[in-house]
Amino acid sequence: MSGVRFRVDGMDVEARPGETILQAAERAGVRIPHLCYMEGMRADGNCRACVVEIQGERVLAPSCCRVPVEGMEVSATGERARASQRMVLELLLSDMPEGSYRADSELLLWATELGVGAPRFSRRPAPAPDLSHPAMAVHLDACIQCTRCVRACREVQVNDVIGYAGRGAGARIVFDLEDPMGTSTCVACGECVQSCPTGALLPRSPWEAGVVDELDMLSPLDRSW
Ligand code: SF4
Ligand code: FES
Repeated sequence: MSGVRFRVDGMDVEARPGETILQAAERAGVRIPHLCYMEGMRADGNCRACVVEIQGERVLAPSCCRVPVEGMEVSATGERARASQRMVLELLLSDMPEGSYRADSELLLWATELGVGAPRFSRRPAPAPDLSHPAMAVHLDACIQCTRCVRACREVQVNDVIGYAGRGAGARIVFDLEDPMGTSTCVACGECVQSCPTGALLPRSPWEAGVVDELDMLSPLDRSW
């Protein structure tokens, strides 16, 4: 089956059958930020970091869950798309702790790449850490509710321990019926840790080995507000 020919930022791109705009654009070397999408996992379209402008459409589209059609004209790094991508990153950053639990936090890396500085918005109250599990540390103050861990637990490992509770600003990741991770039915497979883009879920070892100090977290951004 032949691919779909369309254009991204004026460049001819051919999408393979079933490929999304994001996947085809990435293959062509176009950098579109994405957080809730992870290769090998079902796209969920919840973070909106990957929005692009499609000619003839009124609203921006999430490129991670939109497949191109023949002749489509997409602006992925144009002014309008980039402004929205930066705003999404800034809003997510505004809720982050003052540093990052991981130096390679995908959120911080994308924010740095797109030139997003210190957020202008106030931070939400930080949830307390959950250090009840012997192998994993949970710091939901760094959670962006991307649900990658939920999909990793439920759809990749079929364990169904991690869920999503609450609504609006109260939405949060939970283990079983909001149990501490250490007393939940978690089997410590580590799939959620592998999938987490920010370090909200981390192996315990870096903390215990002193490689990462919770009070001296790393950050490539100016967090001095
Ligand atoms: S804990 Fe990590 S993977 Fe899970 S929703 Fe939060 S940021 Fe995403
Ligand atoms: S990566 Fe597309 S909506 Fe999150």
